[in-house]
Amino acid sequence: MEIITFKDFYNNTVQLSFSDHPFSDSPKHVWCLCKFKDQWLLTEHPRRGIEFPGGKVEPGETADEAAVREVFEETGGSVSELKYIGQYYVEGKGGKIIKNIYVAIVNKILLKHRYFETNGPVLMSELPEDVATNKSFSFMMKDQVLEQSMKYALQHSLV
Ligand code: GTP
Repeated sequence: MEIITFKDFYNNTVQLSFSDHPFSDSPKHVWCLCKFKDQWLLTEHPRRGIEFPGGKVEPGETADEAAVREVFEETGGSVSELKYIGQYYVEGKGGKIIKNIYVAIVNKILLKHRYFETNGPVLMSELPEDVATNKSFSFMMKDQVLEQSMKYALQHSLV
């Protein structure tokens, strides 16, 4: 099993792998590369900035269920297809977190008056080249998880 190790934006060590749940069968966090038609669907977090949707798995919920729920809460997007692609492990100041990475295909976006913890959907045909240094983007978009996941998803024709 190949594990890619690197530092994140806060200099915490991240371990990333595209094998089947290498760190935990029941991770407590999820993150979704979302696609709506030919655009990327992201969300704007009021403090962190623009990022792909995701969050914490709630008690009694599977990680896959959390992924679908978080996409809807944060963007209004209905997920029609959800594909697990990998998992990462970060040892941060707040403790260890393990996150599943998915590709989520969204077929409909419901415009809502309120979005849970975010300012709602952001659609982009391309992510900017300078995402790693661009202040509008969240720290989550600024380490190798994004580029490696994008590469994996493209190579496997998932997006
Ligand atoms: P919430 O406000 O409830 O989201 O609280 P929180 O800050 O405790 O969130 P969480 O448990 O999700 O994250 C704790 C810490 O883990 C963060 O401050 C980050 O340092 C790190 N972390 C969380 N998610 C990611 C991620 O996707 N990538 C990286 N590199 N670090 C992350």
